[in-house]
Amino acid sequence: MNSLQSYIKNNKNRFLEELIELLKIPSVSADKAFKKDVLLTADFVLNSLQKAGCDHVEVCETPGYPIIYGEKIIDKNLPTVLVYGHYDVQPADPIDLWDSPPFEPIIKKTDLHPEGAIYARGACDDKGQMYMHVKALEYMTATGNLPCNVKFMIEGEEEVGSESLSWFVPRNKEKLANDVILISDTGMIANDIPSITTGLRGLSYVEVEITGPNRDLHSGLYGGAVANPINILTKMIASLHDENNHITIPGFYNDVEDLSKDERAEMAKAPFSLENYKKALDIDSVYGEEGYSTNERNAIRPTLDVNGIWGGYTGEGAKTVIASKAYAKISMRLVPNQDWKTITELFKNHFESIAPKAVKVKVTPHHGGQGYVTPTNNIAYQAASKAYETTFGKTPIPQRSGGSIPIVALFEQELKSKTILMGFGLDSDAIHSPNEHFGVWNYLKGIETIPYFYLNFTKLYR
Ligand code: BES
Ligand code: MN
Ligand code: MN
Repeated sequence: MNSLQSYIKNNKNRFLEELIELLKIPSVSADKAFKKDVLLTADFVLNSLQKAGCDHVEVCETPGYPIIYGEKIIDKNLPTVLVYGHYDVQPADPIDLWDSPPFEPIIKKTDLHPEGAIYARGACDDKGQMYMHVKALEYMTATGNLPCNVKFMIEGEEEVGSESLSWFVPRNKEKLANDVILISDTGMIANDIPSITTGLRGLSYVEVEITGPNRDLHSGLYGGAVANPINILTKMIASLHDENNHITIPGFYNDVEDLSKDERAEMAKAPFSLENYKKALDIDSVYGEEGYSTNERNAIRPTLDVNGIWGGYTGEGAKTVIASKAYAKISMRLVPNQDWKTITELFKNHFESIAPKAVKVKVTPHHGGQGYVTPTNNIAYQAASKAYETTFGKTPIPQRSGGSIPIVALFEQELKSKTILMGFGLDSDAIHSPNEHFGVWNYLKGIETIPYFYLNFTKLYR
């Protein structure tokens, strides 16, 4: 056992206890009711960075939640790694569907996590993964093994669109100057199949509102004679996909990056069991765009999905009513080259154009962001790949993910640096869902792998 492994073994319980303390604070950025807790979490992160050996830490105020900054600069001639993560979490609801309270972390063993997994909102996304970096830094500073400079930038609004960080980054380019950005906020294929995320999808998120008559109406007295906004809305939404599940918005696919046959063949080599996939989700069949595999559909192809739809009477029993209004929230996952603002415009124009005259339609864009592809031919990728080889005993597979971290494209634009995504979560960790969890093994493996990235990157940089 080397010094890193024994450090982790000797401190394992404390590493878990500290993460559990962090997970107890309900830092839900979407809900103002949790404002105090979000701020407490920011403080927790600040203190933990200080204790882990940063020689300068700072609460950076923004128009929204603060960004926690920390650094340890050992030599200006050495490279600088900038770690990004987020301390906010998704709302926990529906709370009833949790087997244990979302902010009372417990460790339970599962088939996939025989060494136990920590169950709590944010366990994997992203408190657990962010905290691996804090503990890896602690190891490196405590044992004199920090090979280069390090900066931390941990935000509290990732789950609501990173607005304050988009404000902060262009104003602090010098402070944030770096040679590579390192993020653990994604996943890997399996604990025995390590992978590095090489792509993130972009996002356009919109809300639509259909208005019919100026008030709710008796569905007998008026039914059949006026447009029912819910009927109209569902019809409009249904028309957004054709019979092959292609999206029908004119121009939607114009800029989509087409992968070559070879690239698709390379992707198809990644281990994947459709049977297990269906079993895990309890579905008889998958569903999606004609001509593409499941892994292509959820990574290299754009999508359009209703995330929520409401209107009319949804209480107990029956009420005969034609609602005045109907609403839906719609997300479009985008692929590289698609511009999220252009797509939002295309959506708005199309959606307005397909509405019958009998209703009014309003489209309100929410947040969005560009997709991202990480190069695999640079020293950051090589450094990460070699790190996994050391700690997993296997070369990691490059894999595109379907999720989004919109701020990554902005990092490249403003800071001119590439991002490397070393995620240690599993798809089955239920992020954003009830019973979110993060494997204890994954947490410790992350802490073990990160220092090798620093070491390899510093060596290759010279
Ligand atoms: N960490 C996730 C994104 C993610 C998870 C990417 C797994 C790849 C694999 C992040 O916190 C997230 O949830 N992002 C949002 C977008 C954001 C603008 C709300 C998403 O993807 O829905
Ligand atoms: Mn995240
Ligand atoms: Mn998330």
